[in-house]
Amino acid sequence: MTEKDFIPNSYTTLNDEGEVSYTSPSNIALVKYWGKKENQVPANPSISFTLTACATTTKVKYKKRENRNEEFSFDLLFEGESKEEFKPKINTFLKRVEVYLPFLKDYHFVINTTNSFPHSSGIASSASGMSALALCFMEMEKSFSGTMSPEHFNRKVSFLSRLGSGSACRSIEGTIVQWGETPSIEGSSNLYGIKYPYEVHGVFHNFHDTILLVDKGEKQVSSTVGHELMHGHPFAQQRFDQAHSNLSKLKTIIKEGNLVRFIEIVESEALTLHAMMMTSHPYFILMKPNTLSIINEIWKFRKESRTHVCFTLDAGANVHVLYPEGEKDIIFPFIIEKLVPYCQNGQYICDRIGLGAKKL
Ligand code: DP6
Repeated sequence: MTEKDFIPNSYTTLNDEGEVSYTSPSNIALVKYWGKKENQVPANPSISFTLTACATTTKVKYKKRENRNEEFSFDLLFEGESKEEFKPKINTFLKRVEVYLPFLKDYHFVINTTNSFPHSSGIASSASGMSALALCFMEMEKSFSGTMSPEHFNRKVSFLSRLGSGSACRSIEGTIVQWGETPSIEGSSNLYGIKYPYEVHGVFHNFHDTILLVDKGEKQVSSTVGHELMHGHPFAQQRFDQAHSNLSKLKTIIKEGNLVRFIEIVESEALTLHAMMMTSHPYFILMKPNTLSIINEIWKFRKESRTHVCFTLDAGANVHVLYPEGEKDIIFPFIIEKLVPYCQNGQYICDRIGLGAKKL
C-alpha cells in the first residue's frame, strides 16, 4: 500500500451536520520508536501493548459551513474549557491529513476532548488524543462513503493518527500492535500500525502496567526534539539495527511466553532509549533520581521473589511497571509498599493491556 491508497475517490453524501465520539487508549512501547524521517516515517520498527485505563474521549460535532474556506474552522474544548494553546497542534494535524480527508474544510467542528488521567500527571496524551480525533474524522468519512471494510477503516485511522503523532498509530487496536517495516513481521508497514499477526502466549493476557508518576512537571526536552536529535547521532544506525533484531527475538518470546527473555529485551529497550538521549548532541537526561531508585528496587525484588516484574520507560521520568496477571498478588503489594513512596504525591495509575479504541 502507498499513501495514495488513502485518498478517497468520492463520497455518496456529505451530511449537513452530526456528532461522533470515540474513546482511544494510550499504549506503551516494548521496542521503542525513537528517530524518524520525513512525513512521520519511523527510523525503526516498534511494538507496543495497547492500554486501557489511560485514554482520551473525543466528541466531534460537525456542521456544514455556508462557504468552503481556505482556513480550517474549529473550536477546541479540553475538559469542557476552551483551549486556544492546543489549537496550533490540531491545525498542523488537519493540514497534514487534509488530502486524505478532503471534506475537512467543508465543516465547522466543535472538538470536545477529555482525558481519563489527570492533566498534570506527566502522562503523554498525544497517542490517545491524536488517535481519538482521527477515529472521529474516519467515522465521518465512513458515513459519507456508503460502505467501508473494517480493515480499511482501521488502517486508515492508524495512518492518519501517525501523521498526528507517530506512537498514536499503535492505539487503535489491541492487544499488541506493531508499526514500521521489518523483515520478521509480515504485513508490517511504515505507514500504519498492524495488530500483531502471530500467536500470543496466554501469560500476556491481562498483563498489568502500573504507571508510577515520578515527575509530573513539563518535560525539559520534548519527544519531537528527541526524535530530531537522532539525525547525525553517533549510535543511530546501531540503534535502528538493534530495534529490528529485538523485534525479531520478541516474536519467539511472545509465542512461547518466555518472561525471562521478555524482561531482558523490554528493560534493555527502555535503557537504550534513555542512553540515546544521554549520548545525543546536545545531551539530556529525562530520568530523575527516583526513576533510578525504582529500577533498583524492582531488580532487587525480582531476584528475591523470583517473580517476573519488570519496568519500561517512555520519554520521561515515569516508570511503567509490567507484570503478569498470575503474579499480581505478590507484585502489587510490593509496588504499594516499596515503589509508590518514590512517586510525586504518591500518585500512580493501574493500567493493563487492552483491546483498543471504542466508538461511543
Ligand atoms: C519514547 O509518538 O510522541 O514514547 O511522532 O513526534 O509525536 P511524535 O513522537 P511520539 O514519540 C514516542 C516516543 C516514545 C517511544 C514509543 O512510544 O515508541
